[in-house]
Amino acid sequence: MATPRYQRPKDTHDLYPGAASWEDDSARARFLEDQFSQMCVAFGYGEIRTPTFESTDLFTRSVGEGTDIVSKEMYVFEDKSGRSLALKPESTAPVLRAYLQNGLASQGGVTKLYYIAQHFRYERGQKGRYRQHEQLGVEALGTTDPALDAEVIQLALSFFHRVGIQNLTLKLNSVGSQASRATYVMALKAYIEPFLAEFSDEGKARFEKNPLRLLDTKNERELEILRGAPLLTDYISCAESDHFGVLRGYLDGARVAYTVDPHLVRGFDYYTHTAFEIQSGDLGAQNALGGGGRYDGLVEALGGPPTPGIGFGIGLERVLIALNRLGAEMPEGPSPMAFVVTQGEAARRIGVDLLAQLRAAGIAADMEYGAHSVKAQMRAANAARSRYALIIGDEEVEGKVVQFKNLADGWQLAVPLSETVAWFNSDTQPQP
Ligand code: HAM
Repeated sequence: MATPRYQRPKDTHDLYPGAASWEDDSARARFLEDQFSQMCVAFGYGEIRTPTFESTDLFTRSVGEGTDIVSKEMYVFEDKSGRSLALKPESTAPVLRAYLQNGLASQGGVTKLYYIAQHFRYERGQKGRYRQHEQLGVEALGTTDPALDAEVIQLALSFFHRVGIQNLTLKLNSVGSQASRATYVMALKAYIEPFLAEFSDEGKARFEKNPLRLLDTKNERELEILRGAPLLTDYISCAESDHFGVLRGYLDGARVAYTVDPHLVRGFDYYTHTAFEIQSGDLGAQNALGGGGRYDGLVEALGGPPTPGIGFGIGLERVLIALNRLGAEMPEGPSPMAFVVTQGEAARRIGVDLLAQLRAAGIAADMEYGAHSVKAQMRAANAARSRYALIIGDEEVEGKVVQFKNLADGWQLAVPLSETVAWFNSDTQPQP
């Protein structure tokens, strides 16, 4: 096959029906989205949808100017009026912007929101890391209660269990408040300074711009040096440490296994207190299936009243890759109830009309287009996994009937054409 003239943008991907692998299959992606939204609704979360682009400033202020996402990865453009806009690289800031703008706090209590959204980051692509990715996420606003932290973490874990991913590691840390972090950063920099010459260029840049991110390094020598570094958990206040202790108690009580990782900082400036990541043993280098945390100062930083909150984002593409690696069974996709099969011109006219009537009555129905033989149409009905073939030939036209053929066990029955739609809707469908 010749290479098509147009290719999708680098490090993006297409999803389509009937793909051989989970990673490319739109029906499987939709299945995961449906599972996620059903689970969120069952946990008391309502869906929020925000625009694909927002003002650039929203992300600079929230995610942080020194982060890789803002400084290197955002798709920024000017609209025709000269406004600076960005394709959203994440959804926490947009959801909080929408929460404030639409006065959702006035609904009272804790506001629990979920989203299924596309995000854009100009990253170096590899398996599981793309320039457009979809997140299944939640944000819950209005309380510092650690029981909410436990709920949000359990919601993410329940989703993975429900779709069949068990081999998970939950990494947990408390990143304290902005104030305790500032003290910690000074201690960290003082510790690293004598070793700085041994750090990579990227490490040196992080030392200047975002020292906490040094803890995320994959560089062997840097990791070795950092083994002796002071720990963030030793710098958080008593209240912050209590919050973390209560959360851990709730997770222990629910028998949720986790590892405390004092080096877990995540790539956003807005986190406070709880930070977590869920990793999979069934993924390669990009092993984070999802991550999240608290952001108790963020609503205020965006101009709202002090409002604590917590949330997470799960990478849909990574869930698809994990399920593919696990060789997970594909859930059966939707199939038609009826497939109209016709022979001859007069039958065709009746069949086209019958198909429209079935669909208008809410019955999933289909037919094969193009002038194909009855045999080819029957093959198409079987390939579509239709429950019944509704066959109309010369005899049926004459007798004003339709031959119902049950494609699973082969029984056949003539039903008057005028009763065909009602036949599907009757509670007790007659059988031969
Ligand atoms: P994040 O860790 O940047 O967090 O993204 C969440 C998840 O999205 C990651 O764990 C990963 O599975 C997936 N992901 C991220 N970037 C890519 C990419 N380039 N390609 C494929 N998958 C990717 C956030 O975005 C936070 N807003 C999450 C959050 C919500 N925190 C609090 N509330």
